Amino acid sequence: MKSILLVCLGNICRSPMAQGVVRRALDEAGLTHITTDSAGTSGWHVGGPPDPRAVKAALMRDIDIFAQRARQVEAGDFHQFDIIAAMDRDNYARLRELQPERSTARVHMFLEFAGELPVREVPDPYYGGEDGFDHALDLIELAARGLAAHIAARAR
Ligand code: 4NP
Repeated sequence: MKSILLVCLGNICRSPMAQGVVRRALDEAGLTHITTDSAGTSGWHVGGPPDPRAVKAALMRDIDIFAQRARQVEAGDFHQFDIIAAMDRDNYARLRELQPERSTARVHMFLEFAGELPVREVPDPYYGGEDGFDHALDLIELAARGLAAHIAARAR
């Protein structure tokens, strides 16, 4: 286990926040050797910075995602990353379509790692208000903690 890719649609809201939160959870669990990245299933915002609302909401939790830049998921990601985690079902389905045969990545719904949580999708906050970003971060924090625990348990 050495790398995790977080994926949403635009790669400017949910997955950059998730990358920042997962990075911190891994660091806090002593799993600093595991690399993290984020990407979008769309190419709409390639090269662009995260949405300012995502930057602000993350910063309120002492997570700096300002320097991230959007990129689109590519075939090589399925060979490079061990875990690819989708923020919602549409992105999960798109990832399964894109996954090359005989590639090694395991594609998950990110909230699978949030344990008993009764929801499986991080809602897209793009068209809503700022509280949508906070709600997304609450869900992301639960899954990030679960993911770090999952990896720590497997590392033992
Ligand atoms: P994300 O949010 O998938 O969490 O980055 C979105 C960002 C942009 C768009 C949709 C969702 N868009 O339609 O441009």
